[in-house]
This record gives sequence, C-alpha cells and structure tokens, in this order.
Amino acid sequence: MASILVIGSGLGGLLAAVRAADAGHRVVLVTKSVLPESNTRYAQGGIAAALFRDDSVDAHVLDTLRAGAGLCDPAAVRVLCEEGPARVRDLIRFGVDFDRDESGMARGLEAAHSRSRVLHAGGDATGAAVEAALVATVRRRAAIDVREHTMLVDLLADEGVVRGARVRGPHGVQHDIGADAVILATGGAGALYTHTTNPAVATGDGVAAAYRAGASVVDLEFYQFHPTALAVPGTPLVSEAVRGEGAVLRGSLGERFMLAEHPDAELAPRDVVARAIARQMERQDGAPVLLDATALGRELLETRFPTITAACRAAGLDWAVDAIPVAPAAHYWMGGVETDDWARTTLPGLFAVGEVARTGAHGANRLASNSLLEAAVFADRAVRALGTPWPTGAGRAADRAAIERPADLGTLAPDRACRDFDRSTLQQLLWDFAGVHRSAAGLNRAAATLAEWTAPPATSTSVAALEDRNLLDLARLLVAAALAREESRGAHHRSDFPDTRPELARSVSQARRAQSLE
Ligand code: SIN
Repeated sequence: MASILVIGSGLGGLLAAVRAADAGHRVVLVTKSVLPESNTRYAQGGIAAALFRDDSVDAHVLDTLRAGAGLCDPAAVRVLCEEGPARVRDLIRFGVDFDRDESGMARGLEAAHSRSRVLHAGGDATGAAVEAALVATVRRRAAIDVREHTMLVDLLADEGVVRGARVRGPHGVQHDIGADAVILATGGAGALYTHTTNPAVATGDGVAAAYRAGASVVDLEFYQFHPTALAVPGTPLVSEAVRGEGAVLRGSLGERFMLAEHPDAELAPRDVVARAIARQMERQDGAPVLLDATALGRELLETRFPTITAACRAAGLDWAVDAIPVAPAAHYWMGGVETDDWARTTLPGLFAVGEVARTGAHGANRLASNSLLEAAVFADRAVRALGTPWPTGAGRAADRAAIERPADLGTLAPDRACRDFDRSTLQQLLWDFAGVHRSAAGLNRAAATLAEWTAPPATSTSVAALEDRNLLDLARLLVAAALAREESRGAHHRSDFPDTRPELARSVSQARRAQSLE
C-alpha cells in the first residue's frame, strides 16, 4: 500500500483517486476550489469512443491522427482509442447516465470525426454529469482524504524524485504533503487569455510547478481556440455539436463565409474554423460572427442543448428566433507535462493525467471530445503503473527538439529591473500576440514585455498571487515555444510562416535543471 497525492478534481483526478483507493492505496486528493469545480464540469459536446457497430478503433485513430496535424504520438493515440470504450463503460458503472435514443446510446457528430461517435449526457451537460457521478463516487470512498481549497504551490523533489507537494491550505498557510507518488491532474490554463471557455480555476498550476521542479514540458505553443464561444461576458461555450446538428455561421451581412473556406464548411477542423472566424471578424471591424441555429427549431435546441439555451437566455438572447453572436476563445492546451503511455513524466514519482499532460494523443490539434476520454484512459493507466519501476529517461521517446535556452522564468534574476504586472494585462498581451494568429514581431514584443515583469513570490499567501506566479511562468514558456516553431501547424498559426514545414514535424520540449524551493 502506497500513499498517493492526487492534485486536481476534474475527471482525471477523481478517477485516479477512486482507482487508487480501490487498489488499496491511501489517497489524499487536494483541489484548489470545491471538489466539483473543474474544467471537466463545463465540457458540453461529450466523450468520443468507438462503441458503435458502424465505427472502429482504426477509424477513431485515423481521425485523431489527421486532426493532430503530424504531431501525434501514434502509440498514445492507439492506447486512447483502444482503451477508450472500456473507460466509457467504467463511467457508466460509476453512474454517468449517457443520453439514449430509439437506437440505444445517443451519439453526436463533431468536426473532423468521420462518423457520429460522441456520447453525451443531459443534452449538452456531459461534463457536469461525469463530474457529479465521480464526485459522488469519491465521497463514498473512506480511503480518500479530500482537502478542498488547497492549492498546489510547488512539487517537493529530492534528488530528482518527486516525494510530495507544498500546498497552500484554506487559511493561506503553506504546508508540505509527502507521498510515494503524485498524480497531477490540475487541468489547463485558459486564464492565460482574455477570452476563454475555461472556469477561473484553470491557471495551469500543475504545468508551472512541474516545469519548476525540472520536468520536461512539451508542445506548449499549441493552444486550441474554440471557434464558438458566446460573445457575452464570461464567454460560455457553444458546443461544436450545435454545428454538428446543422447550425451555420454567418457574417454580419448574413453570408455563410465558411463555404468559401473549407469543403467541410462549418464542420472543418476546429483550428480552421477558429481562424476563419477571426479573419471574418477583422473584415467586420471586430464584430463577432453569427451562429444561426434557428433552423433546428426550439424543441431540439431546448432539449438537446439546455445549458446553451440557459446561457443565451441569461444574455437576453433567444437562439430559436435569432442568430447569436459568437467568437473564438482559448479552450484547451494540447501541450503540457511530457508523459509516456503510462502517464509517467520525466520526473520519477510524478504522473500527469488530463489536460495538464502532454501524452501525445492530441498532437498539434485535439480532435473534439477526445479530452474527457484522454483523462479517463490515462488516469486509469497511471494507477495501474503505480509501484512499477520507473524506466530510465521516462517520458516520451518521441521525436522532439529541445529549446536550447529554455524560457527564463525571471524569478532566477531577482536583481533585474522588473515591473509588477497585473493579470488582465498579461491576458491581453497573450491574446494579442500569442493567440489565434502569431508572428515573430508580435511574439518578440510579448517576450520582451514578459521579461520585464516580476512574479509574486512562492511564499505568497493569496491564491491569486500564486496563480499569477504560475501564469507568468507559463506565458514565458508558451511564447518561447511559439517563437521556436517557425511554421504553421494545427492550432499554431504564424502569419510570417504560413505554411507547414514537413521537416519541423517534431515536438518542442523545454526543461530546466531542478531548482530548490524558494
Ligand atoms: C464542444 O462541445 O464543442 C467542446 C468539445 C471539446 O472541446 O472536445
């Protein structure tokens, strides 16, 4: 029996905690907010898996590889698609009540899937259903010690082996939690950008802490922008499944501009649609484009998409009658802490599952609804790998190029003339220069500004200050990776290098020597 520290309470963290407890381990599960709050909770479209007779693992693999634009790890993709159906069945056993129709399990179609394979629950409330079922399962396990309002500050490493984490407790006091293994499941970092579909807790705490501890982080330049967030404060997601049901995008004059952009029009890969919308918005002086779902009819909209219907209503919109304003927003980080097929990072003792990880399953552009699946598959694998020997040089042996001089995190040079920053300025900087469209000029400008800023110290007592420290570290890493990739591929688009360069079909990694805690 080992002591396992799980950090984060989305699908990956909750499932890992349950599996580890059921395997007889002692588990401490810490989460920055309350247990049910996570990115998982806001997932709408669903969970993709080859579960139907007219589908196959091979077809799912092929769609995932195509979306990944040459940067997926084929072995990780195969693991994802092969083990996905069993993990979906596990979720059903844990109480997730996926929607059904007259043919059995109901399924939706999303962009770049060659067939309908996306299961959903509560219409467009899939993530909420998954989160609720797993939270209830965790609460039934006496072996899981849940600590809410407890934020990861830094990982504790002893001679390169992770042995626990320093956390900030509910009253602002920092303390250490020792463990035989740490499973990071802290999610993404939508808070890097002005517009995001992510909840406020998504500040990339795990990626930042893993990097500071000396883990390799990979593919950080690949941030996926969801094409359609409702263009109102809070930018709630408008699922791709809405376009899967037949909704169309229109410019301010009512024209369907996607017809001229891609043969699959509104169901083109997500990055293509997001860039086309950004260009259309430029043509119309920044005004959002319109998503016209009126042809779907009120009954379908309200039953299949109750969450979006409620968001529209809250914004004073009736999408059964009028097209609604939408715009791209930061949605999902393909990059993250490098792992192998067993969720092992390059630091012994440290696993990473879900959005915090870069498993290689998503490449340069994640296929819609593969994220919940990835979290489930690799959380399960992490627990199965507990207690097995850590292979030398674990992480991934994929073809990759290291950035020779990893991003300077600034905190190493306290005597430099630095300025404090505020989060909204950082978010605007990244939105403007490291967003949907990028160029060397903009990225260099962002890098220069980021280098001037000084982060709050690791000893800060407030959650916001500790988050800011992480966001600044991550912004520097993301911009360095985006500068290093002199091509356009998947979600990374450089106006100064608009083509994909086949010789650059390899990942960019960044790692630094382990630092002692400040
Ligand atoms: C959506 O419902 O459009 C989002 C699904 C995803 O990000 O995988």
